Amino acid sequence: MDYTTDCLIIGSGAAGLTLALGIAKKAKVIVLSKADVCAGSTNYAQGGIAGVYNIKDDQDSIEAHIKDTCIAGAYICDEKVVRYVAEHAHDSIQWLIDAGVPFDQKEEPAEAEQSPYHLHREGGHSHRRIFHAEDHTGRSIQETLVQRAKENPNITILEDRYAIDLITTKKLGLPGNKVLGAYVLNEDSDHVETIKARYVALCSGGASKVYQYTCNPEVSSGDGIAMAWRAGCRVANMEFNQFHPTTLYNAADRNFLLTEALRGEGATLERKDGTRFMPEYDERCELAPRDIVARAIDHEMKKTGADCMYLNISHKPAEFVKKHFPTIYERCLKVGIDITKQPIPIVPAAHFSCGGVMVDNKARTDIQGLYAIGEVAYTGLHGANRLASNSLLECVVYGQAAAKDILKHLDDDSEASELDDIQIPAWDESRVTDSDEEVVITHNWHELRLMMWDYVGIVRTNKRLERAMHRINLLKREVSEYYSNFKVSKNLLELRNLLQVAEIIVRSAQERHESRGLHYSLDYPQTLEHSGPTILAKDSIKD
Ligand code: FAD
Ligand code: SIN
Repeated sequence: MDYTTDCLIIGSGAAGLTLALGIAKKAKVIVLSKADVCAGSTNYAQGGIAGVYNIKDDQDSIEAHIKDTCIAGAYICDEKVVRYVAEHAHDSIQWLIDAGVPFDQKEEPAEAEQSPYHLHREGGHSHRRIFHAEDHTGRSIQETLVQRAKENPNITILEDRYAIDLITTKKLGLPGNKVLGAYVLNEDSDHVETIKARYVALCSGGASKVYQYTCNPEVSSGDGIAMAWRAGCRVANMEFNQFHPTTLYNAADRNFLLTEALRGEGATLERKDGTRFMPEYDERCELAPRDIVARAIDHEMKKTGADCMYLNISHKPAEFVKKHFPTIYERCLKVGIDITKQPIPIVPAAHFSCGGVMVDNKARTDIQGLYAIGEVAYTGLHGANRLASNSLLECVVYGQAAAKDILKHLDDDSEASELDDIQIPAWDESRVTDSDEEVVITHNWHELRLMMWDYVGIVRTNKRLERAMHRINLLKREVSEYYSNFKVSKNLLELRNLLQVAEIIVRSAQERHESRGLHYSLDYPQTLEHSGPTILAKDSIKD
């Protein structure tokens, strides 16, 4: 079935649903998820959402939030953007509260002028300023926003719909470069549908699945970044992939995240013999920004040959731990670890894409009518390393900014009738047959992710990056041949996108001749005095 709508939103996480709810008063909206509606990273967020809500509460200030963000970002954040986001945190958090998100409140009644909310602290934050719902903040946000969206007659949510590529005037040989919609694989009918829209928003999340070990869900395969790149958008800072320091190291449940809020409440990082090591790396110890903590863990593991390090909160009262971290307590108990009594084995894992599709302060990309919001986007907020709990905040702040911009233009009927006049050709399947060699996809998939983990991970070298690029080029040729000859499947599309994103990550890493934030190169260990974002455009790259 084909559709026409005012706005097509590719992604149903915090970014997509904030935008949908923001424009649905006036516009017809279709929201896609390539799996179920709660499949994105939003649903898995633990720590919370950062923001200075009430400055009379505890001496915190917007200036301090800005400063912490810029320090964590290793001084290449766009300061105007950081200020914009920090200043809009209060309204964004209030919007979530009004929507019904049940953030934890203080146990004791708040004094006059104090905020009633219980706040966490995480690495890189100079104050407690993280709003949370126990240790499942993401789930609470996701479920609340889905409920609000389902109540709204102007919002249609389509699950198991995989956006393949954007449709633009340029691709159709028409003047300009305006978005017209997208081709979408309906996994139930196995048919490629055309969705025509005046506005399209990429809200498709990050690309951490390009690495073998990641705490991200299956859907984080960088599809939005790859689609935007193919359509001609610039991307920035893709070398800065964040590795979360503490994910569970366990054969039965690898990659489950252990929130930084544990360290905020006093958990320590230890070697097997119980000695702490963070004081040897940074004066902020366990609460140093994530890049520093992840690198220290990696260094300790390599130095001692250990398979993992340990996170220990067992010195805190058991009741306190169970009350604040019920999800983590239960999940670890299932694999035989009682976190109130013993240290938890941990390893770093790929967690967040700091770079993405370049957007302006209204989330507009280089293509007219195309927006990018949330983890898929590069706004300039995160610089070389994202400060904890700033991502959900960015999703809401930019979701609302984009909504305002779209609402402003919706009444322009000439745009709508222009779109009506354009005939979009249906997806051409005449030359392709069903694949008889799915094993090729599976094999290449594993090879790519392991290679990225080994060569383009926490510590990089020129040689490793060259090797990675060589492998990527070979895989790209194989996959492109496969793509031309066989019917599209979800696995094939994801592999194609992951390869595209891997190439962009490696190219970006090769462009940066210094170590900064999440990009650490043994060949360029120094940090340059002056630096900026790495910006890439497809047209300036020879295949
Ligand atoms: P997502 O929530 O990832 O949603 C992506 C959506 O896009 C999904 O609906 C998916 O199905 C859809 N999609 C993707 N590709 C396609 C396609 N081709 N076609 C159709 N649909 C598609 N950040 C914080 O600020 N605080 C935290 O405490 C925190 N904890 C985290 C814990 C974990 C375990 C993880 C993984 C991340 C955490 N983060 C946290 C990061 C944060 O959760 C994410 O950056 C944020 O939720 C991203 O939201 P999003 O809306 O951009 O994308
Ligand atoms: C965490 O809870 O440690 C993750 C927070 C984040 O990614 O911002």
